[in-house]
Amino acid sequence: AGGVERDNDGVLAVDGLSVTALKEQFGTPLFVMDESDFRSRARAFKHAFDEAFADICGGVDVYYAGKSFLCTAVAAWVAEEGLRLDTCSGGELAVAARAGIKGENLGLHGNNKSDAEISRALDMELGRIVVDSLDELERVAKIASARGGRAKVMLRLTPGVHAHTHEFIATAHEDQKFGLSMAEDSTEQAGLSAAEEAVAAATSYSSIELLGLHCHIGSQIFEPDGFALAAQKLLVFLAAMQEKYSITLPELDLGGGYGIAYTPVDTPRPPAEIATAMAAVVRSTCAELGITAPRISIEPGRAIVGSTTFTLYEVGTLKTVRVDAPASGSGKTAETADKNVTHPRRYVSVDGGMSDNARPVLYDADYSAILASRTSSAAPQLSRVVGKHCESGDIVVRDVYLPEDVAAGDLLAVPGTGAYCWALSSNYNYLARPGVVAVRDGNARLIVRGETEEDLLNRDMGV
Ligand code: LLP
Repeated sequence: AGGVERDNDGVLAVDGLSVTALKEQFGTPLFVMDESDFRSRARAFKHAFDEAFADICGGVDVYYAGKSFLCTAVAAWVAEEGLRLDTCSGGELAVAARAGIKGENLGLHGNNKSDAEISRALDMELGRIVVDSLDELERVAKIASARGGRAKVMLRLTPGVHAHTHEFIATAHEDQKFGLSMAEDSTEQAGLSAAEEAVAAATSYSSIELLGLHCHIGSQIFEPDGFALAAQKLLVFLAAMQEKYSITLPELDLGGGYGIAYTPVDTPRPPAEIATAMAAVVRSTCAELGITAPRISIEPGRAIVGSTTFTLYEVGTLKTVRVDAPASGSGKTAETADKNVTHPRRYVSVDGGMSDNARPVLYDADYSAILASRTSSAAPQLSRVVGKHCESGDIVVRDVYLPEDVAAGDLLAVPGTGAYCWALSSNYNYLARPGVVAVRDGNARLIVRGETEEDLLNRDMGV
């Protein structure tokens, strides 16, 4: 067997381990991760990009974006599968260090790295610090120089590619906090972009080793075109900089952002298709420009971890209301959207919510839910899965059909919660953050312990 499927009793099981057994042992809410799935997705990315780019630059360095979900065990799996790790804070570097990841296999991001984070990166001899601004470049140069060392640096540029995704997760347009603009009027100096100014500055500092350029155009993107266009723009710029400043920029990182299916309307492409499309553009652009292709790297997070995990919740309070037009916007229930008829909608409350999955509130993200602890032949009923927080926006799944006999004590599974759910979790309303369990070969291992009431009170200094 393996993977997520129903066992003989109709109970959802991961690699043969039933959700009822998981609930018994670890309680709910619980993040349940399929370790083999994580490992094979990690391998699949590495393999697909290595194949597609073999003739161009010998392969691709895949940096798993730790911000999507990181703990020591995951960092170790990433390394075991031949990937590197992208971090964006001192805390993430601490996890990487604890997992024993070598500095050369680590990158550090962030638009506002502290001096302490920069020093830590230099202590750990990081393979790359991705510098986000001119201001930061100067700081990294100073800190490295004071230590008598050299910092390996990439420059993060904003190529002005508009990826079709939520505004807060699209990052390559100009008017936002990340990156150095490639637009020519982006500095005081006429005709010089912030990106070029940074290249010129970086080459002038003896304490900086400029490895190359980076961009990340956004997240949850399906079409490869945006990635290909960004690659082309960066290569053109890279060639111009090599020529003008007589330098070699050996590396180009094209970021992450590859989308996954949260609901059946989402249509992600397999890694091989994205890799092939990107490789075609890199190959032809380098040929046109007459340059040797730089070593390519990417930083997928969500596409590796997102689909490996579901959240297990227990159903509590139920109530039904009558609504005019169901399915606001999602289109998923269009067949029932008759303006003249009211429909019942059932509110199914679960024992977590926006504290373990903030994505519906933050990005209007869609999820699905299934009855996990049993099967049911009862009629499907329009339902809204909501959390237990003191906020009406605390929705887990806006519209989903669940069997009408769903009752308190049933377990629901919400798939696709591996990325940016635990990572964005909070203690809102003094809820304890759930633990994360990894299942492999029928065995469950807690890789992040859930919080206890004691944890919640520990940092409260008392009266
Ligand atoms: N590289 C950089 C520089 C990034 O900023 C990000 C994501 C990634 C790689 C990984 O992107 P991915 O492959 O996971 O899409 N919280 C939002 C997503 C924020 C993404 C932030 N940066 C969400 O839940 O949709």
